[in-house]
Amino acid sequence: VKMDSNPPHLKTNFADNDRLQMLKNAFEKKYGKSPKFYAHAPGRVNLIGEHVDYCGYSVLPMAIEQSILAAVSVNDSETIELANTNPQYKDFRVSGTEEIDIGKDNPQWHNYFLCGVKGIQENFSLPSLVGMQCVVDGTIPASSGLSSSSALVCCAGLVTMEANEKSLSKVALAEICAKCERYIGTEGGGMDQSISFLAEKGTAKLIEFNPLRATDVQLPSGAVFVISNCCVEMNKAASSHFNIRVVECRIATKMLAKVKGLEWKRLVKLAQVQTELGASLEEMLSLVEEVLHSDAYSRAEICQALGITPEQFSTDLLSSNTQHVTHFKLYQRARHVYGEASRVLCFKSVCDSQPADSIPLLGDLMKESHASCRDLYECSCPELDQLVDICSKAGAVGSRLTGAGWGGCAVSMVPSDKVESFIRTVRETFYAPEPRRAAMEKQSLFVSKPGGGATIFIEE
Ligand code: GLA
Repeated sequence: VKMDSNPPHLKTNFADNDRLQMLKNAFEKKYGKSPKFYAHAPGRVNLIGEHVDYCGYSVLPMAIEQSILAAVSVNDSETIELANTNPQYKDFRVSGTEEIDIGKDNPQWHNYFLCGVKGIQENFSLPSLVGMQCVVDGTIPASSGLSSSSALVCCAGLVTMEANEKSLSKVALAEICAKCERYIGTEGGGMDQSISFLAEKGTAKLIEFNPLRATDVQLPSGAVFVISNCCVEMNKAASSHFNIRVVECRIATKMLAKVKGLEWKRLVKLAQVQTELGASLEEMLSLVEEVLHSDAYSRAEICQALGITPEQFSTDLLSSNTQHVTHFKLYQRARHVYGEASRVLCFKSVCDSQPADSIPLLGDLMKESHASCRDLYECSCPELDQLVDICSKAGAVGSRLTGAGWGGCAVSMVPSDKVESFIRTVRETFYAPEPRRAAMEKQSLFVSKPGGGATIFIEE
């Protein structure tokens, strides 16, 4: 385990970097002066470990090259001014001396930025924030499961830290940004923010929580990872799918803990039940079989089992956007989580020991992960299943949905010598036949190598 350091400050010659140069030009055109610094935070692709981070379990993502980049100047106006290089995203300004209010219904792009600002402001209890002007440039396709929203929160956190002359370690930034993104209303875990700060070029990472740490995972050299977008947009914050799963896992935690005589009121994550029992993941899967039934649970049944009132159920267990839900699939969700947690550990150990059959072993784990997401966690959609199917037939040894799901991207592990024919087949079978998909293909189907983490750039 490496010592936790601060995000690097890199002096950069813009002659070698078209994107920085273009953003600098856009900033100068907009604000009539030069930026003071630039902050960069990448998106990610999760290789395995879906919907387990908020249950306390480890995940295995890598950063992608696509990112959020912001150009920033500082002034004494005590106003924060935001603009975006994409004209679809409107300018916004907010006072740095008043409490920052983050809209939860139908959040706009600037709301994610404000989450990062508020996270830093609260962490240092700053009575007022320095005035700044920012132009933001994003290359991560939105609503595609590649974490464009978290990268924006992380970039904003980094910008606000730097502009206000504060210093934080990568781990501290990741924790602050994971927490403050919840102001949007989605109860995410910490995967996206952690990999955005802790990523290192050339390696995937095992991210563990409580305490947060990241360990290198050396991917096998004979295969590459290809990302493909099913072109169904999934905006976590605009629907309640995501929080319903979080709530189902929370209820399953309490039901399992109560049956085993644990202090169930205090426990909120499925991993805590395992820790308290000192059980293996295998044993947790048996416990799920023994204790939970596969029919969905009604509110009344849960209240009776836990000995709580319907009011307590609503206030203690549900979030504000899940108040309408009447039935909860506890057995299926808990089985997915304990099974997926164990697949992450298997994946890591195959990468560590690199047996001769590493690639098929990892591929099988990815396939099992997708089946579990689709059938037990129900976080896929028909287009994504179709895409995963096409990817498998096109030569992937493993293919699965990545990110929250319900749309967005699949990640496929493809033997290096088959990449070209794989891409050709997926293009011909999935993208070309539908004009909408064909139009999106360029930013929707690409090879991805593990990229580096968040950085501050200063022009040399
Ligand atoms: C979103 C959340 C993450 C994680 C994934 C699902 O990306 O932000 O914390 O829960 O979904 O694995």
